[in-house]
Amino acid sequence: MPHRHKSNKQTMLPLEFSVNPLFTRKGEEVVTRFRIRDQGMLPETAYQIVHDEITLDGNARLNLATFVTTWMEPASERLYAESVNKNIIDKDEYPQTAAIEERCVRILANLWHSPQPLKTMGVSTTGSSEACMLGGLALKRRWQNERKKQGKPTDRPNIVFSSAVQVVWEKFANYWEVEPRYVNITPEHPSLDPDGVLAAVDENTIGVVPILGVTYTGLYEPIAAIAKALDELQARSGLNIPIHVDAASGGFIAPFLQPDLVWDFRLPRVKSINVSGHKYGLVYPGIGWVVWREPEDLPEDLIFQVSYLGGNMPTFALNFSRPGAQVLLQYYNFLRLGKDGYYEVQKASQAVAQFLSKEIAGMGHFELYTEGSDIPVLSWRLKEGYTTNWNLYDLSRQLRTFGWQVPAYPLPPDMENVTIMRVVVRNGFSMDLAYLFLMDLKQAVSYMDSLDGPIPHDTKYDNGFHH
Ligand SMILES: Cc1ncc(COP(=O)(O)O)c(C=O)c1O
Repeated sequence: MPHRHKSNKQTMLPLEFSVNPLFTRKGEEVVTRFRIRDQGMLPETAYQIVHDEITLDGNARLNLATFVTTWMEPASERLYAESVNKNIIDKDEYPQTAAIEERCVRILANLWHSPQPLKTMGVSTTGSSEACMLGGLALKRRWQNERKKQGKPTDRPNIVFSSAVQVVWEKFANYWEVEPRYVNITPEHPSLDPDGVLAAVDENTIGVVPILGVTYTGLYEPIAAIAKALDELQARSGLNIPIHVDAASGGFIAPFLQPDLVWDFRLPRVKSINVSGHKYGLVYPGIGWVVWREPEDLPEDLIFQVSYLGGNMPTFALNFSRPGAQVLLQYYNFLRLGKDGYYEVQKASQAVAQFLSKEIAGMGHFELYTEGSDIPVLSWRLKEGYTTNWNLYDLSRQLRTFGWQVPAYPLPPDMENVTIMRVVVRNGFSMDLAYLFLMDLKQAVSYMDSLDGPIPHDTKYDNGFHH
């Protein structure tokens, strides 16, 4: 069993626990687990209790499952500590933080080739999930407004994406009552394909959402080809279906590593884009962005005004209060790295991903599925017929014994019979760490190969990772 399950934790753990007498005052030795204590305790004691408990967490630097930043340099940590008390919604009280947020939106609008980078609307969010919700809501409202103008019903909206979509889009469809239409991936079309899109859309489609950097594999979906297919559909039928690009990871990779790839506002059909600042934007968790192509692409009736310097400032967000520090860290990165710096950092991650891909393919046990040429993510499957003694879930567990956290999971419909393992290479996963990882991977594999029988499986506990 890879880790403790919540229900077990709650039934097995006592309601009270005792604290090391070395760092408690008299009367503080016993701590109630699920009820707030009647009396407080010294800050050092409380610190030590929390500190000790989280030592059981995995080591963030060895977490090859996450896309989210696990290392920033000391100067940015200083800035973080200085600004941790700023609430982003207090625009009047922290006008310069608000100005910097606004500047970041302009920088992203420029980076993604908006025709009106100084005017168009965009906001920071808690991450791509909130940004996707906002992008999806704008699509829905725009569609509703158009349909109402034409006197047509608005009760059956749908949205189209591939079955490899991130869970946030399932949530969007569920929470905002939009029918999700999945175009299933296949071995021939491992990501959203234009013909599949054309077969799924109709007059009730609020938008199509291709992904720049599919979470499962790191692949870029063919956005220009999808836009072209929708252009031709419009020429044939008059249906004008917009695109929102979920560039959670790729939005900070493609502009630097694949600048000639046309996926962004250079395509007039792309009306909005989201990105996670806390993924390849290289900021600690808690920041995402969504930007619209031109001011008219965000319906005005979704915009709220907050007070700012005696006047008002337009905002569009689900949260009210949120940390402002991450926005400052994003701006810090823009200043600190520039285009050259982002290129160097992302290129280094890609070099590590491609090095690992080559080495892992060379081991003979695995078949590469993706090798880091889109976003720096590699994935592989066990070679057909290689062994029945162990599988990738076993390998994932073995790697945990060295501290590495590497997920194994099935692909989405219609490819759920294929299990893959994935490594996300991020800034901070150096070539040196990659060599060490490779040594541990080889050791784990040779240990499992040396077993004289199959590893027993309890599928209930096979996969502890989620997308
Ligand atoms: C393609 C895609 N979209 C959306 C998300 C959600 O992003 P966040 O974790 O920033 O909310 C992710 C996260 O992995 C993702 O990969």
